[in-house]
Amino acid sequence: MQLLLIGSGGREHALAWALSRSPQVSALYSLLGNGGIHRIAQPVTVPADDFAAIADWCKAHSIDYVVVGPEAPLVEGIADVLEAAGIKVFGPSKAASQLEGSKHFTKEICFKYGIPTAASGSFTDAKGAKAYIRQQGAPIVVKADGLAAGKGVIMAETEAEALEAVDTIFEGKFGAAGRRVVIEEWLIGEEASFFAVADGEHVVAIGAAQDHKRIGEGDTGPNTGGMGTYSPTPALGDAQVEEVMETIIRPTVEGLKKEGAPYRGILFAGLMMTKDGPKLLEYNIRFGDPEAQVLIPRLETDLVEIITHTCAGTLDRLQVKLHDQSALCVVMASKGYPGDYVKGTVIDNLDAAEALENTLIFHAGTAKEGDTWKATGGRVLGVTGLGVDIQTAQANAYRAVQTINWPEGIYRRDIGWRALEKEKKNQKEAS
Ligand code: AMP
Ligand code: GLY
Repeated sequence: MQLLLIGSGGREHALAWALSRSPQVSALYSLLGNGGIHRIAQPVTVPADDFAAIADWCKAHSIDYVVVGPEAPLVEGIADVLEAAGIKVFGPSKAASQLEGSKHFTKEICFKYGIPTAASGSFTDAKGAKAYIRQQGAPIVVKADGLAAGKGVIMAETEAEALEAVDTIFEGKFGAAGRRVVIEEWLIGEEASFFAVADGEHVVAIGAAQDHKRIGEGDTGPNTGGMGTYSPTPALGDAQVEEVMETIIRPTVEGLKKEGAPYRGILFAGLMMTKDGPKLLEYNIRFGDPEAQVLIPRLETDLVEIITHTCAGTLDRLQVKLHDQSALCVVMASKGYPGDYVKGTVIDNLDAAEALENTLIFHAGTAKEGDTWKATGGRVLGVTGLGVDIQTAQANAYRAVQTINWPEGIYRRDIGWRALEKEKKNQKEAS
């Protein structure tokens, strides 16, 4: 089987790693890619935004499946273009991709199909939005409707901040993503990321992970794409997984089918575990980054089986199994991230870190120049440790992080802290 993988982050390196290990894969190609991916997949040089050219390339190279890592090409309709050309795609259609492409669309699905989520209103004019804010009061959450690279959410502690956020969005700070605003009730609880896979009709749970979005230790400072993850997470145990499937995931997949936009691909639910049960914060139409760097290493089921059953509509015949072991990923970023960061710095001793046991290193922004690894992005490496529990996985991840010699690299030293506090509390209560 011949596959094309699209994307250039740590998530895509994790996908490439799993695909390259599958006995079913005879050739793996990479569009975009990075230094780590290009060691296991052959680079392709078609323009990534020219979907018709990608379709032609796939036909010329007898590609069986295209795996799309990031959301942007899906929201722009890459799956529709490739499928019209007879190429199978792991990733949703443009219509179904609105689950991530429009927060308003997702809220409408939630309200129509009774899916638990924050109370909200959607507005295309500042006047209506402001009236709603004054009526609801603060704290309150103001969101640009469309894709805004994770920056379109303003958590307003005061009414004045919320009103200002509305102006900022309508003044065009987020471009077309801000033609509409969604204003939401501020939910309280612990967040968790939940992953399932759907084939348009059937949907199967994969598992949960926890992300650390803030740059600073103790979950402080500005939001980032994600500074570390772990899986499993005590925030979402087996009983809650069933509740999430029953109240959130299945109604969404059934709802989208009824709406004529059947969902095919990875479905990533950002959840708030509130005192009234799990509520949907947002949907993403892809694996998380860096959630993929902990979930994919835990997959016992061949990723290729997941892809082929999804595209064939036969997920009812597949159970996705995860290994019992825990995984924890520490993201290493260039100094300055998430603001302006240094570029082109040298990373030493990466090969020694990669050789350590119970460790996997996923590249997000690297390039190899001669024998030297260089950092080319904001988030640069995802260092995943594996172990019998979170504590062991954490120790393995940090051992590898400390082996890497990269003076311009930064990382959080507390990835996993919530889970470890709970592990400790449970141990105390048991003794
Ligand atoms: P989103 O892109 O919608 O997931 O929002 C980004 C982050 O903002 C989430 O991961 C939450 O930490 C926070 N957030 C979004 N919506 C809410 C809400 N209604 N209540 C509390 N926190 C929220
Ligand atoms: N780590 C969060 C995301 O991928 O959206």
